[in-house]
Amino acid sequence: MSSSPTTPSSATAATPPAAAASPASPASPAGAPGSAPVAVTGAEGFIGSHLVETLVTAGHRVRAMVQYNSFSSFGWLETLPADVLDHVEVVLGDVRDPGSVNGLVAGVDAVYHLAALIAIPYSYRAPHSYVETNITGTLNLLEAVRHQEIPRLVHTSTSETYGTAQTVPITEDHPINTQSPYAASKAGGDRLADSYHASFATPVVTLRPFNTFGPRQSMRAVIPTVIGQVAAGQRTITLGDLRPTRDFSYVKDTAAAFLAVGTAPAEQVVGHTFNAGTGGEISVGELVRLIGKLMDTTIEVHEDAQRIRPADSEVMRLVCDASRLRAATGWAPAHTLEDGLGHTIDFFRDPANLARYKTDLYNV
Ligand SMILES: NC(=O)c1ccc[n+]([C@@H]2O[C@H](COP(=O)([O-])OP(=O)(O)OC[C@H]3O[C@@H](n4cnc5c(N)ncnc54)[C@H](O)[C@@H]3O)[C@@H](O)[C@H]2O)c1
Repeated sequence: MSSSPTTPSSATAATPPAAAASPASPASPAGAPGSAPVAVTGAEGFIGSHLVETLVTAGHRVRAMVQYNSFSSFGWLETLPADVLDHVEVVLGDVRDPGSVNGLVAGVDAVYHLAALIAIPYSYRAPHSYVETNITGTLNLLEAVRHQEIPRLVHTSTSETYGTAQTVPITEDHPINTQSPYAASKAGGDRLADSYHASFATPVVTLRPFNTFGPRQSMRAVIPTVIGQVAAGQRTITLGDLRPTRDFSYVKDTAAAFLAVGTAPAEQVVGHTFNAGTGGEISVGELVRLIGKLMDTTIEVHEDAQRIRPADSEVMRLVCDASRLRAATGWAPAHTLEDGLGHTIDFFRDPANLARYKTDLYNV
């Protein structure tokens, strides 16, 4: 892993993987493994760190933006195996800063833009920061990609932009109904992405993942909250509303969906939005029972008032129709919910991993 504080062009490029030794031919689709790296924002985060692994395994060199911090922490990237990190160049920066973003995308084949503030409860407290990161940050990516004529930008949306399902399963034509400042800020970024494609033919594709889970997820999300508390020895765990249903994808499947839209021929994906999800549905209450069964224990749930969202802000039902993504790219989930939960439980049962979490706190 090489690193550069601000200017990637001055950093030593990591050795390309064997599969990337020959330059991309002019006929190669955008984002195909080639001589130029691909850039990832939010690379040190949960989905971003898995996507970095997926990209390197597919033969890419990755320029990974990690949000600048004075601890020189590279987040979850620090836990990746050395044979992955050999192909990763870390760039410290901030998507709110146009200079950072311009440097990040210089000379890359494709950009995967995942950086965002994502916690819904914190978006009630600090909405300005959500607008700056999720809307202005996305605008900075769009401007950089437009002016530097980067062949592909994969923009990350979220199923939260649909709000409570009005029809199921949810297709991309379902109305947008933003029930939290987080969802509104993500939808703002989506609208900018659509407008840049319409106005400037910027080659942007939007991936809209439904709830994603797996190793390295923060304890702001329900699955790590349950598994983490049980792994830490608690049998009575605190949660919010148990009624909402979600469509949970294992993180490796979500990372594969990013790769699919990042590398598909332009005419199949550019200018479009794609849902990514399994089509399955489970309530939070049923999920807790399933995790208890897989962890061989009975979990008692204590409902914590501070974790309950305002009634009109809670998204009660999300179920994905991913047939557009499947038709355009052939993507399909490879993991069942039980299978993914098994990997996640193994991760949280490892004391070294558990020690990275604060299981006794309400992690906003
Ligand atoms: N986790 C899910 O279930 C889910 C579902 C749908 C969509 N998404 C989207 O996927 C993306 C990744 O989410 P995640 O779950 O991995 O969350 P995460 O919080 O682990 O990752 C987000 C990353 O963005 C980085 N970041 C935040 N502000 C930044 C800034 N100003 N400059 C640069 N980097 C910044 C953070 O440091 C973090 O590493 C987000 O865009 C999110 O909206 C997530």
